[in-house]
Amino acid sequence: MTGTVFSHPVSARCFRFPGNVVQRQEKECRRPDPAPIQAADGGCKVDSSRRQKSDQGYLFAHRHIFGIEQLSGEDINHILDTALSFRQIAGRAVKKVPTLRGRTIINLFFEPSTRTRSSFEIAAKRMSADTFNISASTSSAVKGETLVDTARNLQAMAPDIIIVRHSAAGVPELLARHVEASIVNAGDGAHEHPSQALLDMLTVREHKGRISGLKIAVIGDIAHSRVAVSDFLGFTRMGAEVSVAAPQTYLPAGIEQFGVQVCASVAEAVAGADVVIALRIQLERQKDSLVPSRREYARFYGINSEVLKAAKEDVIVMHPGPVNRGVELEPDVADSRRSVILDQVSNGVAVRMALLYLVGSGGRREVEI
Ligand code: CP
Repeated sequence: MTGTVFSHPVSARCFRFPGNVVQRQEKECRRPDPAPIQAADGGCKVDSSRRQKSDQGYLFAHRHIFGIEQLSGEDINHILDTALSFRQIAGRAVKKVPTLRGRTIINLFFEPSTRTRSSFEIAAKRMSADTFNISASTSSAVKGETLVDTARNLQAMAPDIIIVRHSAAGVPELLARHVEASIVNAGDGAHEHPSQALLDMLTVREHKGRISGLKIAVIGDIAHSRVAVSDFLGFTRMGAEVSVAAPQTYLPAGIEQFGVQVCASVAEAVAGADVVIALRIQLERQKDSLVPSRREYARFYGINSEVLKAAKEDVIVMHPGPVNRGVELEPDVADSRRSVILDQVSNGVAVRMALLYLVGSGGRREVEI
């Protein structure tokens, strides 16, 4: 393969594809109006905006979390507000509340994970749920058991929530057809990674005070990235302008459906950006190498302090992790004040607490945080 892979078919200017055509799915079960969260004696009061939404008749109506595609802007705001209410628990000496006491949560991971699995587990434990982890290598999948049989056997142990990560797109929806537990997608193939996009949105909202009207540049392996799909859906739904730059081989067919601007270079995508999100090169999802070399990728698409000169002065830099240092991000950026990567990880726990609370309690019980 030669360096020609980096030549781009679009002109020197960014151009905008038609708007997002993805429709919200409305078919999920309706749940009762969430009960207001009650502060424990001596505890903190919950964010009042959440209670207001409840008073105004807002319902979080999702029993499963398959993707951002199913969530309205109001759902997203509600999840982020709920996450903010839970976030302060991390600062307490005793990081535990009884919110999901008695609930059983299974982490079913068929792919490696550091951040997502541990933060779902920490989130569940902080809310007093009983949790256990199953990974592909230690499950009977290695003996030939089908995914659906595995799920049915787990269901026989009466879990309330199953969090699943799998290399195949659509596995969360498949499991939901065979079990009674709520299903939360922790990443399915190149389809969606909703909790990552939600923690990304929470991090942007925290640092910028808003999402609407911001310019967000997404750079890297978009074709194989479920984070890209969920981020595109989430940020455009919340009113941000998203521009992308990637080697031609990393741009998926049909990217136009997301309403993002495809740019000819990183410099164009990053120009005037409030937020730059670098994506990992997903070598595990590529049969053949789609870029000439990591070094060449870094030269044209790596984010360094020189590239960021075109962005806004207060630009923040994000990455879902794991980072290939010196490839997607140079250390002068990864370790700089502009990097909010560890804030993303911290917010991941709060967002996952919110998701488990919203699907796990359905708001039917009064809870203490
Ligand atoms: N961002 C993310 O999904 O990281 P992990 O693969 O470590 O879970």
